[in-house]
Amino acid sequence: MKGIFQPDLLVGRVALVTGGGTGLGLETATLLASLGAHVVIAGRRTEVAQEAAESIVGQGHRASALQVDVRDYPQVEGAIARIVQEQGGLDILINNAAGNFRCNTEELTPNGWRTIIDIDLNGTFNCSHAAFEALSKSKHVGRIVSIITSYAWSGWPGCAPAASAKAGIQSLMRTLAVEWGNRNILCNTVAPGAIGDTEGARRIHEDAGRGAHELSRVPVGRFGSRADIAAAVTYLVSDAGRYVNGTDLVVDGGRQFCFGTA
Ligand code: HXC
Ligand code: NAP
Repeated sequence: MKGIFQPDLLVGRVALVTGGGTGLGLETATLLASLGAHVVIAGRRTEVAQEAAESIVGQGHRASALQVDVRDYPQVEGAIARIVQEQGGLDILINNAAGNFRCNTEELTPNGWRTIIDIDLNGTFNCSHAAFEALSKSKHVGRIVSIITSYAWSGWPGCAPAASAKAGIQSLMRTLAVEWGNRNILCNTVAPGAIGDTEGARRIHEDAGRGAHELSRVPVGRFGSRADIAAAVTYLVSDAGRYVNGTDLVVDGGRQFCFGTA
């Protein structure tokens, strides 16, 4: 996707990507950095975040890593304070960190439910809330992009906690779009469909033997690529997205309109 965007598109911006050490988060972090942003990669596993940052730096761009569990508000607050101190501010927050597994609801334990709600929904609240002040001071108009899925509004048999958490995130982003629209922060979501070669798709589709079934329900006839999602996020955080607030950018090849068994 480099080459599609102006190479200096995000020069001067500081971006925090939660879960930026792997999958869609890493692809997004790499693209933002290649367009001039300083990207901070946050995740629970220090070595994964560190390795990701080093790979971006190795490509000639700016990145650093922080160990953060998004469920832990004081940790999130501390991480954002450190970013502001070291980088001079924060312009972009990508709420990408998530957990998910396939489990029929009657077999789910209360702690299984709580774990996913805690990572996805509470983690998104924690990061957005802790980043408010810094984002509101951005010279480039602060941006929050939260990664959800169209299953947030269709429901998601076998993944009730993730569906519910993502629906909550969607509602939170719409609410903050209104509360914070006049506080210099734009809030939106990106809703990927099934993206090939990611941990999410492996867990939810491939491991359950549903890969071919899923593919048959994608009108454009292919799974998405990580680059498709990184490009959508980049549009929203760039000047091109400066009047976009409170919306969902669905990047799923038309999958959301193929109704039937999920
Ligand atoms: C049922 C499960 C389970 C499973 C865990 N639990 N895995 N229940 N089926 N497969 C239950 C446990 O039994 C426990 O409940 C509770 O969940 C917490 O488990 P822990 O392992 O202690 O949690 P933790 O260490 O915090 O790890 C969180 C995690 C883990 C979500 C369980 O898998 C993780 O860290 N995931 C991050 C990576 C990930 O999930 N990637 C996909 C994200 S994106 P009890 O009651 O026993 O204590 C995505 C979108 C896909 O999925 C979209 C596809 C199209
Ligand atoms: P992934 O590779 O498993 O990424 C999840 C990331 O979140 C990991 O880097 C993980 O790092 C981090 N993370 C998990 N729990 C965390 C916590 N408590 N605190 C901080 N970081 C945490 O998954 P992916 O497939 O790329 O998915 C990325 C995003 O896209 C998710 O929001 C997902 O729901 C969404 N999505 C994906 C697809 C798809 O097809 N892949 C489709 C729709 C939506 P650590 O383990 O080091 O913490």
